[in-house]
Amino acid sequence: MKEKLEEMRERAKQELAAAANVENLEALRIKYAGKKGELTSVLKQMGKLSPEERPVVGQLANEIRQFIESSVEMKRAEFAEAMLEKQLEEEKIDVTLPSDVSPLGHKHPLSIVLDEIKEIFVGMGFEIVDGPEVEYDYYNFEALNIPKDHPARDTQDTFYITDNILLRTQTSPVQVRVMEKQKPPIRIISPGRVFRSDAVDATHSPLFHQIEGLVVDKDITFADLKGTLETFIKRLYGEESVVRFRPHHFPFTEPSAEVDVQCFSCKGKGCRVCKNEGWIEILGCGMVHPKVLENCGIDPEVYSGFALGLGLERVAMRRYGVDDMRLFYENDTRFLSQFE
Ligand code: DAH
Repeated sequence: MKEKLEEMRERAKQELAAAANVENLEALRIKYAGKKGELTSVLKQMGKLSPEERPVVGQLANEIRQFIESSVEMKRAEFAEAMLEKQLEEEKIDVTLPSDVSPLGHKHPLSIVLDEIKEIFVGMGFEIVDGPEVEYDYYNFEALNIPKDHPARDTQDTFYITDNILLRTQTSPVQVRVMEKQKPPIRIISPGRVFRSDAVDATHSPLFHQIEGLVVDKDITFADLKGTLETFIKRLYGEESVVRFRPHHFPFTEPSAEVDVQCFSCKGKGCRVCKNEGWIEILGCGMVHPKVLENCGIDPEVYSGFALGLGLERVAMRRYGVDDMRLFYENDTRFLSQFE
């Protein structure tokens, strides 16, 4: 029996050396040291041995079991380490390799100018509000003192959805929505899209952007309007800009004015940029008409206000010397990449 055990140890040694993976090892352990393994079947025959031989053979069998078990454990650990090494090797990251450069976008010129305008007004204590693009006739016209037969409707070629629902032709309806909801003091601007069924050319588009402004409180005068707008224009176009207020008419303001800024190109002499006028018109404004205040439930005997509306595309065109509005919408990256 001793020889049989010795022979088993030799065989196990060779098989251990040949084991190529964890599965081989486990099979080997079961084959020799498992419950029904070779060692067990040898030990079952211990009864046939003499009492002197039994402890010697028993000890040898235990030695072999320990040898097999510890060898299997050692090899298992070696395999695990080798696997980890391999994985680390395979997943190694070379941080010195050059990276893929993804092209980075940037703000659209209209957004750049809009953000600047917002910042100037926010700096003067204005809040920014939003309004719907699909609007009722009432808010776009009626409440703004433009009744059904008013000639001002003809100048704003309106996209109607139904008889009384339309795409807003101006941001002015937001004035009405704000005044209906909010008690004075009110100090807001509202930028957004507006729509008119105009044919596309260098200065017209069926979709463009306006920025509405509204201030309502006790004792608001035309002087407040002038001061606010002069500050705004000087911040936007530079301290040296010269501003001119010219009488005009809007149904929702009385008195009304248009504001021109002296042409930066020729300083008022007249040139191609200002179409020889020396001045460039940039916005419409006026004191909120008492009827409009009344329509919104604000007492014109107690409160007064001023409003303004400017076209974002116009301001951006002047700012960047762009002479065709279509460039802003065509998304030609050769044009857009100049505004980084
Ligand atoms: N809504 C006018 C337009 O689209 C612009 C405008 C003029 C707005 C005067 C105003 C204003 O608030 O006071 O032509």
